[in-house]
Amino acid sequence: MKNSLACKLLFLILTIACKIRTQVKCLEFDFPTFEASNDSDLIKVNSYIVLGAIQVTPDTRGGSLTNHAGRALYNKPFKLWNKDKKATFNTTFVINISNQTDPGGEGLAFVLTPETTAPQNSSGMWLGLVNETTNRTLGSKIVAVEFDTRKSHPDDLDGNHVALNVNNINSVVQESLTGRGIKIDSGVDFTAHVRYDGNNLSVYVSRNNSEVYNQRNLVFSRAIDLSASLPETVYVGFTASTSNYTELNCVRSWSFEGLQIDGDGSKLWVWIIVPIVCLVVIGAILGLLFLRSRSRAGETSPDIEAELDNCATNPQKFKLRELKRATGNFSHENKLGQGGFGMVFKGKWEGRDIAVKRVSEKSHQGKQEFISEITTIGSLNHRNLVKLLGWCYERKEYLLVYEYMPNGSLDKYIFLQGKSRSNLTWETRKNIIRGLSQALEYLHNGCDKRILHRDIKASNVMLDSDFNAKLGDFGLARMIQQSEMTHHSTKEIAGTPGYMAPETFLNGRATVETDVYAFGVLMLEVVSGKKPSYVLDKENQSNYNNSIVNWLWELYRNGNIMDAADPRMGSSFNVDEMKSVLLLGLACCHPNPNQRPSMKTVLKVLTGETSPPDVPTERPAFVWPAMPPSFSDVDYSLTGSQINSVTELTGR
Ligand SMILES: *[C@@H]1O[C@H](CO)[C@@H](O)[C@H](O)[C@H]1NC(C)=O
Ligand SMILES: *[C@@H]1O[C@H](CO)[C@@H](O)[C@H](O)[C@H]1NC(C)=O
Ligand SMILES: *[C@@H]1O[C@H](CO)[C@@H](O)[C@H](O)[C@H]1NC(C)=O
Ligand SMILES: *[C@@H]1O[C@H](CO)[C@@H](O)[C@H](O)[C@H]1NC(C)=O
Ligand SMILES: *[C@@H]1O[C@H](CO)[C@@H](O)[C@H](O)[C@H]1NC(C)=O
Ligand SMILES: *[C@@H]1O[C@H](CO)[C@@H](O)[C@H](O)[C@H]1NC(C)=O
Ligand SMILES: *[C@@H]1O[C@H](CO)[C@@H](O)[C@H](O)[C@H]1NC(C)=O
Ligand SMILES: *[C@@H]1O[C@H](CO)[C@@H](O)[C@H](O)[C@H]1NC(C)=O
Ligand SMILES: *[C@@H]1O[C@H](CO)[C@@H](O)[C@H](O)[C@H]1NC(C)=O
Ligand SMILES: *[C@@H]1O[C@H](CO)[C@@H](O)[C@H](O)[C@H]1NC(C)=O
Repeated sequence: MKNSLACKLLFLILTIACKIRTQVKCLEFDFPTFEASNDSDLIKVNSYIVLGAIQVTPDTRGGSLTNHAGRALYNKPFKLWNKDKKATFNTTFVINISNQTDPGGEGLAFVLTPETTAPQNSSGMWLGLVNETTNRTLGSKIVAVEFDTRKSHPDDLDGNHVALNVNNINSVVQESLTGRGIKIDSGVDFTAHVRYDGNNLSVYVSRNNSEVYNQRNLVFSRAIDLSASLPETVYVGFTASTSNYTELNCVRSWSFEGLQIDGDGSKLWVWIIVPIVCLVVIGAILGLLFLRSRSRAGETSPDIEAELDNCATNPQKFKLRELKRATGNFSHENKLGQGGFGMVFKGKWEGRDIAVKRVSEKSHQGKQEFISEITTIGSLNHRNLVKLLGWCYERKEYLLVYEYMPNGSLDKYIFLQGKSRSNLTWETRKNIIRGLSQALEYLHNGCDKRILHRDIKASNVMLDSDFNAKLGDFGLARMIQQSEMTHHSTKEIAGTPGYMAPETFLNGRATVETDVYAFGVLMLEVVSGKKPSYVLDKENQSNYNNSIVNWLWELYRNGNIMDAADPRMGSSFNVDEMKSVLLLGLACCHPNPNQRPSMKTVLKVLTGETSPPDVPTERPAFVWPAMPPSFSDVDYSLTGSQINSVTELTGR
């Protein structure tokens, strides 16, 4: 306890030390609102502070609003670059533009420029940035993020877009805001965030003030070298214009934070501060190392280590600090997604891309999932299983390290109807299904301990750069000793509704047959591009309906099974192959577990060695206890099938 407090203190000192070192001379200000007294903080051309906002083009109250160009800049300059370094900045502002004509005109821009005066005749389509002359001369020196409200030029995307302009009125990138529910000139406040990290300039917009800096609010990100377009020192602020079309261009709040590079004049000061900071940092690191080594014995996790030592070939153990470095301290930018039991981050380690899963502290099953993953897939090696590279348990953090899958998870591809995601061809789909069946066959029959995955679903299937499928997320997997093969089932209900076999709702057991069922549902999804959904009648738990299975059986009964093919494939597939896969999927989803084929059979059908099992055209009723098997190669039977009513489902 005491140690962790000391650690925190040292971290604090370290952080402060780093801040002092890097934030030398930074321009920072915040106008939560604009007051009359803030007049002197701004350099204004035709603009005013009225009604708590900068009116960038004047709000003349009855006078003419036409053909104005205005400008308002912060009165202190911003040092953008020097010989060897570039500055970075963040700025957030709230815009309110209300059209006075239909449509409004012309727009407002956030600018960086050394020019404190506006060029003549820069109203109208010029947005107060440049005029016809300065537009053509490279000397105009202005970089702008424009919020354009009128299509005043054929090159304009529409009358509601954000764009980046460099030294002229032409846009190097433009994006419409219409799809984001924002109408720039609607007289409704919206928030914009512009960020420059030294390489990329990114613009974010949000209808409200909360969390504007968020990946989903990103409008565009564009690599740009500001030092190539602008002088070392610039002013930051806004310009706006009207034409015959008019609007009130208001900025209601504005904050700015820029990190600058220490100028030549302050070198002396730097010579004093840097050694001090270095001493503090070195002292802090030594102190940390000392504390770390003293607390190592007490801090590690004897039970987890012991459990993991029991499995012979466990994967590599990582250090927390290595993984923090690899993932940029689990930064938001590196977040890949939210997995079943935690967040997944992208990282770079020893030159290769990795994915790091941070098992949620809040998940009380966290520790169990963590151990399951390491002990099950950790020792396995199959081209269709996501490879676990290592793990880390330190300071109550459970972390798992996997190979990185550039194409993400399968669900993103099969469910995004009409979206721009690339469509999967029949060949790719077939390859995915075959790969997964190989993985599952291997888990069921190929290793010395039988492994049940228990949570087969599209979001647990990852795609590598060639769209080869890899089964992942073994958080729910359980190993069954080969000697206990006769039972080959495990109690403790788990899985994802929609992929759960009907008998699961009665006996709560995971078996090879429940894995086969889930695999069948997944096959149907991959072929049809439809989501599985299910209906569970609370009164009568055996009345379980899996809609994708029912839907397909209905098509099959009416002799239209080929209608199930995902329309996005058009007709570019082999009809016999498709039919065989659909029938196989149905066979796997047989309500009666003993009628489902084994993975061995599934694989044979997929490789064309045998034809798909006969499937009754009428969907068979779910009978419990199950009927005796009818497939000759069903070599395991369900034993001890007493009925347990299940009251709690752990879905995810
Ligand atoms: C704006 O004016 C208020 C009131 O005088 C003042 O407290 C605040 O510091 C000013 N804001 C800035 C950024 O100068
Ligand atoms: C910008 O904001 C982020 C937090 O959102 C911060 O981490 C970063 O240091 C800021 N950059 C600058 C230049 O202020
Ligand atoms: C502002 O634009 C809307 C359409 O976007 C229009 O209905 C409205 O009349 C315009 N306002 C004025 C004052 O022209
Ligand atoms: C553009 O602005 C410059 C500087 O204000 C001025 O000298 C020039 O005449 C203007 N050009 C036009 C076409 O108005
Ligand atoms: C430019 O502005 C001046 C005065 O501001 C005006 O006399 C002249 O007509 C304008 N030129 C153009 C091309 O608009
Ligand atoms: C502005 O200047 C750019 C670059 O010189 C040129 O390509 C563009 O046509 C000009 N735009 C207008 C509207 O004159
Ligand atoms: C935006 O500006 C318009 C016109 O000035 C005003 O009617 C409206 O109330 C403003 N919006 C907010 C949220 O204040
Ligand atoms: C803020 O706006 C975003 C979209 O820009 C929306 O998703 C979110 O729900 C809004 N939040 C509030 C509190 O209105
Ligand atoms: C800049 O943005 C591009 C996408 O436009 C991205 O690929 C690149 O990684 C970004 N670079 C940095 C340094 O953020
Ligand atoms: C603006 O309106 C005036 C008067 O109606 C007209 O003469 C002029 O051509 C218009 N200008 C533009 C750019 O539409």
